[in-house]
Amino acid sequence: MQIKIAYTIAILLIVASSMIISAQSARLIAKEGHELSISCGSIGVELKLCRAAVEAWSKNHGVEVEIIPTPNSSIERMAMYQQILANQGDDIDIMQVDVVWPRLLSAHTIDLHEYDANAGKGHFKAIIENNTVDEKLLALPWWTELGLLYYRKDLLKKYHFGLPKTWEAMRTTAKAIMEKERAAGNHAMWGYVWQGRNYEGLTCNALEWIKSYGGGTIVDKDGKSTVNNPQAVKALQMASSWIGDITPLGVLNYDEEESRGVFQSGNAVFMRNWSYAWALVQSKDSPIKDKVGLAVLPKGGTNGNHTSTLGGWNLSVSRYSKNPTLAVDLVKYLTSPAQQKLRAMYSYNPTYPQLYENRELLEANPFFSIIRQTLSNAVVRPSANSGEYYNRLSYQFWSAIHNVLSGQKDSISSLSKLDNSLNRINHHHGRL
Ligand code: GLC
Repeated sequence: MQIKIAYTIAILLIVASSMIISAQSARLIAKEGHELSISCGSIGVELKLCRAAVEAWSKNHGVEVEIIPTPNSSIERMAMYQQILANQGDDIDIMQVDVVWPRLLSAHTIDLHEYDANAGKGHFKAIIENNTVDEKLLALPWWTELGLLYYRKDLLKKYHFGLPKTWEAMRTTAKAIMEKERAAGNHAMWGYVWQGRNYEGLTCNALEWIKSYGGGTIVDKDGKSTVNNPQAVKALQMASSWIGDITPLGVLNYDEEESRGVFQSGNAVFMRNWSYAWALVQSKDSPIKDKVGLAVLPKGGTNGNHTSTLGGWNLSVSRYSKNPTLAVDLVKYLTSPAQQKLRAMYSYNPTYPQLYENRELLEANPFFSIIRQTLSNAVVRPSANSGEYYNRLSYQFWSAIHNVLSGQKDSISSLSKLDNSLNRINHHHGRL
């Protein structure tokens, strides 16, 4: 019951914040003359890139396009879409959708194959499969992301440490370097920053820890919980032990950009983040330019695995769009190899395998080989088997993890309670 109340309150808060956002968007859309509208994210340089590409298409086609910025947190972004879509609103023709959403939004998005039988050709097959629901292609891939370990190669060298292969080694290295740097006068130095806020990003981080220790993937193919096991407990105990030790307490409220802020200002030895952060930490005004290395995330102990949560964003067309043909054309343009090549210069990973062989891109993105290698070990969030209940499942998961990290619950009881909730969701298909 308590879970139900907490869930309802959280959703109400999200809806309230999204109402403010959508009121702002509605004002934007009310401007006359716009024939299409597209929502783009604004993390890093996303919005700038989106605007430039849309303007180029717009000029060529003589069609005005409104760009609608969306909140950074994916859960708030989803709430904004759901609010518009629930009323069959045509406020947004093209939506930027997370890799975990195609099924969740399937009632509101069009089958792109109905407009172009070739749509989806040439992209990574796994992403196209992910975006295909009941044989309908509901989204075209825009870029793909993986969780990676960013490290200060200058500091590892200065203190004679190798790149840590396990979480245990990462902790020892982080702590030793942090202490030495603090002793040398940098009191703001921390060992490891990541995404620990109560939101989807925490689901991504925690899934990586648990999977790296062989503790499962939240639920199995049939939707049955797999979280109640000693390896998952071990992973969680490890992550909780970082807080206040190598990780600032504030991480419990960090999203991607907050962790990047700490790392990029030179105040952390290691950071977990998606690849988009590479171009930013390497930008010309970055205090740590040329001091950063990138690697796969550590293994859970010597017998564990390197893994990484699959992220990424796609473009879908709303079923309520008045101009679906134009909208599909713009989506095809934005997700084309030429556009993805431009975006890759800002470390937005292409979804076409062929672009990973491109010499120019390989020079700008030395981590391309890591991406290709990690893609084969990537762990997917259970959005396909939990269908429209994925948000509820993920909410239960990240809340249980956050309770442990913030010291409100111990990992054994939190995971056992989570196990019950996940199985109930599966059993009742969301009618908790
Ligand atoms: C990134 C990923 C996305 C994920 C989100 C969580 O944007 O691409 O898949 O859901 O982070 O914060």
